[in-house]
Amino acid sequence: MKTLIYAHRGASKDYPENTMIAFKKALEMGAEGIELDVQLSKDNVPVVIHDEQLKRTTNGSGFVKDMSLKELKELDAGSWFNSTFNKEKIPTLEEVLVWIKDTKLELNIELKNNIIDYEKIEKIVYELVKKYGMETEVIFSSFNHCSLKRLLEIDEHINVAPLQSARMITPWKYAKGMGATSMHIRFTSLSQKTIEGFHKEELKVRTYTVNRSFLMRQFFKWNIDAIMTDMPNKALEVRDNKKR
Ligand code: G3P
Ligand code: MG
Repeated sequence: MKTLIYAHRGASKDYPENTMIAFKKALEMGAEGIELDVQLSKDNVPVVIHDEQLKRTTNGSGFVKDMSLKELKELDAGSWFNSTFNKEKIPTLEEVLVWIKDTKLELNIELKNNIIDYEKIEKIVYELVKKYGMETEVIFSSFNHCSLKRLLEIDEHINVAPLQSARMITPWKYAKGMGATSMHIRFTSLSQKTIEGFHKEELKVRTYTVNRSFLMRQFFKWNIDAIMTDMPNKALEVRDNKKR
């Protein structure tokens, strides 16, 4: 079984995270999937940005939820990383969907609603993904498992993956019990036995965020379904050329 490589926030080691250039470069590098983070603007538009607040990854300040899409689009989402990326904007989820639908990339949409439980984010994001006919292909994940349950109430056929950072006793039972088809577990909390537990239940398991070669090799050996990494180029080299 081949472990897939997902670019975490795009190719975020070399490009500003969660921007179109980071996603496009991940595809160029050969990544098989993309993970991105979604928050809602004041006018309820899903936008691709990791933090609830703007200051770390843009030249703005305050909360994403307090700004309209128009205001968010005026911000520079690249210069914080390197001034050569000063044309990068906060992408809308829709812009990413329009681009990704013509590629073979898998898409993991992480709803960032574990701190701010955005009202109706599930319905808004689901309807948008459905507009592009991708609702059964996309993997919806969140640390807010109640939100994933709400998504499953909208459509029981979609793929949801609860995110988990702690070590659980039988996480595959938990995932199955809530109707998830996979689970995304922090790399520090995963063992080979846990991966086997998921596979015995015909569930998938993916891990985040794996940037070191020896860990990549370990997870490839353990047959995990996918790793999320900031360095898809490095992961591909380790997986396919066995170098590094
Ligand atoms: O979805 C996996 C991972 O992205 C979760 O953590 O903080 O990088 O969004 P974070
Ligand atoms: Mg994320």
